[in-house]
Amino acid sequence: MKPKIILYIASSLDGFIARIDGSVDWLDKYSESGQDYGYREFFESVDTVIVGNKTQKKFPQKYGDKTCFVFSRSSEGTDGNITYVKGDVKEFMKKCKLQGRIWLVGGADLIDQFLKYGLIDEFIISMMPEILGSGIPLFKTMDLTRLKLVKSTPYGNVMQVHYKK
Ligand SMILES: NC(=O)c1ccc[n+]([C@@H]2O[C@H](COP(=O)([O-])OP(=O)(O)OC[C@H]3O[C@@H](n4cnc5c(N)ncnc54)[C@H](OP(=O)(O)O)[C@@H]3O)[C@@H](O)[C@H]2O)c1
Repeated sequence: MKPKIILYIASSLDGFIARIDGSVDWLDKYSESGQDYGYREFFESVDTVIVGNKTQKKFPQKYGDKTCFVFSRSSEGTDGNITYVKGDVKEFMKKCKLQGRIWLVGGADLIDQFLKYGLIDEFIISMMPEILGSGIPLFKTMDLTRLKLVKSTPYGNVMQVHYKK
């Protein structure tokens, strides 16, 4: 069965995932709120995690027992369940023959590469009521249409939208 790549991410209301310097201090109050925005259920539903190295460096995580691939041109090898990989993302998907549900964590650089190949099947975006004015945009590629709304879930002040290709 074809693997499913799912982007699960938090965005400011004006479409940024981090400030220009990469900081996500504006998300702190949400992670400290006690609300998990469906994270645990989502995390348990995925088999594999794919991350860009800037994100991994910012949030060094092992992602439990999930198979984890970190894209990097500067690091290689393995670290527990993490394998550093590089190169064209479509080639990687072909070569690795991944199965099941794959969480594409981000950041924007990696998302853009998967998006350009039309490899992202689902988008789960938590829209945080924050207007940053500038930062790292969630999407760089502009030509993405025909998404179907699967669900919208309010978590207090936050609206989480779930779209499928
Ligand atoms: N709001 C959220 O929920 C959320 C979620 C995720 C991330 N973020 C934020 O996003 C920011 C990072 O995003 P970003 O766009 O700057 O960077 P990124 O996508 O996380 O990582 C970019 C890095 O990934 C590696 N890379 C990318 N494509 C590659 C390829 N094809 N082959 C090999 N390596 C590749 C390179 O690592 P090397 O430099 O090692 O070569 C590159 O510098 C962080 O500040 C993080 O806080 C926010």
